[in-house]
Amino acid sequence: MIRDKNCGDIREPDIGSVMTITGWVFRRRDHGGLIFIDLRDRSGICQIVFSPDVAVDAHEIAHDLRAEYVISVSGEMRKRPDGTENPSIPTGMTEMYVHKLVVLNRAAALPFNMEEAAEAGEALRFRHRYLDLRRPEMQQNLMMRHRIIKGFRDYLDMKSFLEIETPMLTKSTPEGARDYLVPSRLNPGHFYALPQSPQLFKQILMVAGFEKYFQIVRCFRDEDLRADRQPEFTQVDLEMSFVDMDDILGLIEDMMKTIFRETLGTDIETPFQRLSYNESMERFGNDKPDMRFGLELKDMADLAGGGNFKVFLDALQSGGMVKAINGKGMAALSRKELDILTSEAQSFGAKGLAWIKVKNGFESPIAKFFPEEILRSMAKRLQAEEGDLMLFIADRSKVVYDVLSRMRLELGKRLNLIQPDYKFVWITDFPLLEWDEEEERFQAMHHPFTSPIAGDMEKMLAGDAGDREMLSSLKAMAYDIVLNGNEIGGGSIRIHRRDVQKKMFEVLNISDTEAEVKFGFLLDALKYGAPPHGGIALGLDRLVMLMTGATSIRDVIAFPKTQKAFCMMSGAPALVEPKQLKELHIKTDEV
Ligand code: AMO
Ligand code: AMP
Repeated sequence: MIRDKNCGDIREPDIGSVMTITGWVFRRRDHGGLIFIDLRDRSGICQIVFSPDVAVDAHEIAHDLRAEYVISVSGEMRKRPDGTENPSIPTGMTEMYVHKLVVLNRAAALPFNMEEAAEAGEALRFRHRYLDLRRPEMQQNLMMRHRIIKGFRDYLDMKSFLEIETPMLTKSTPEGARDYLVPSRLNPGHFYALPQSPQLFKQILMVAGFEKYFQIVRCFRDEDLRADRQPEFTQVDLEMSFVDMDDILGLIEDMMKTIFRETLGTDIETPFQRLSYNESMERFGNDKPDMRFGLELKDMADLAGGGNFKVFLDALQSGGMVKAINGKGMAALSRKELDILTSEAQSFGAKGLAWIKVKNGFESPIAKFFPEEILRSMAKRLQAEEGDLMLFIADRSKVVYDVLSRMRLELGKRLNLIQPDYKFVWITDFPLLEWDEEEERFQAMHHPFTSPIAGDMEKMLAGDAGDREMLSSLKAMAYDIVLNGNEIGGGSIRIHRRDVQKKMFEVLNISDTEAEVKFGFLLDALKYGAPPHGGIALGLDRLVMLMTGATSIRDVIAFPKTQKAFCMMSGAPALVEPKQLKELHIKTDEV
């Protein structure tokens, strides 16, 4: 054995014993005579002391130890002298007096200081990810990720789910992002697509009679990246037969409760609140509301219409809306600060921001356009009291929702309304279809295999595929799970009848030929006794991010990519040999 114990596992009962530990040189303090080093391994840190009184040689060599040298030290564990203990770490009562030091490996000068890595910038951290990952914070994140994954596996195994792998080299799947394509050498001109999700395969597994499937699976989407999006990410994907929506939501609630208890020791409240898509939009302006605070949007159309402020009247006349939120206690803002707030709203897409201070009556450049009565009703609706600031956006509904939902979050942070907590909410009753202005056709809001709600099924089947109004009104049996303002999963009850699926394609303006080419194997499978089924996929990276308190999913993925989908460490994607391209029958333009 190279070592007797892990650094982080040393405790008071070890005092008096002689042992060997190994690890990386983390912090060092040279106190003239004594040299103190925090020795670090995966388990934590242990303080080691080099004293010329204990070992002259070791002390001599210790002078030359640099950050991240790998060493082995043997010596006696002692109790730290009174007053020098560090109760904030588990090994803080003890220290090793080293009598033998072996340098197992040296380290070159580091590209960044390990303790200031968070400020080093992602480019440097990602380039030297092996160093970045050595940081205790990152190690904690990945250990937590492991425990969460294990929690899902254990839970789903206990509930009789089978883990079944599905192909990575497959056909385009319908999640709506761009595909990553892989050329086929054996089939010139043909391409595999990496899966955006295992959606079609998991449905086929239901047709194949497995009843309960899950997979912790990598998905690939070529889309514009943000802090909560990666080109490859992991889903906890599951599918069940003979279930309705409540069965699936209930299972996920129980699974989340179990995992939060086992990994964080936190008791989350179940069942989760449910909001319909419409209610979520009305109250929060988006379909992933952070439920940890209020500041809800209020509709002001009726009151706004009762004044003669042209901006409001124009918006209403052209079919738009006027909505407002209450900036609690913000009436003290100066004109300059209000201008900044207005530019912020404009940066979110608003044309402007109308404000009314509740301060010795009403103070605002637009107050003159409204009778006192209406101003008072506005304040009442927003529960605005003396000292508050009413903020209005008038525009097309999309802009109003977009801007106010973002302002709500900004104000929530600014006013310190968001306390650490876990607030889950289900969003249900999504529209089945979404009109695509550019392509002038409907798109499936979730995906084309999602069933309409029972009450809308006949309406869709009997209806005309060109009846825009009827089609817009259809609701889907789809649900999203939202945690603290993040969409951490989504799923639906699927269409299991072939006639319904065909009608769906017709509504989506997908021709028979196109449907056959793209999803023929699913349509075929639906002919042969497909059971009713449904499922969900959770975004594991986002969930782990929230559970570890990380601010980006990149901090919970071992080897993430940058905004440009580039791996700073390996240098992928990269140019390849002309010979490889030739074998693949690919010609590229000069770049
Ligand atoms: P959906 O497309 O909603 O559903 O994806 C499920 C969840 O995966 C996460 N997610 C992502 N996480 C990181 N980076 C990304 N680029 C990314 N894209 C999505 C989100 C999302 O809620 N097949 C369906 C599920 C089903 O119907 O069962 C699907 O993939 O947290
Ligand atoms: P104006 O009449 O353009 O000078 O605008 C008067 C006030 O209304 C200013 O405070 C603008 O920021 C605000 N405003 C302008 N457009 C909008 C809008 N679409 N929604 C809300 N407020 C607006």
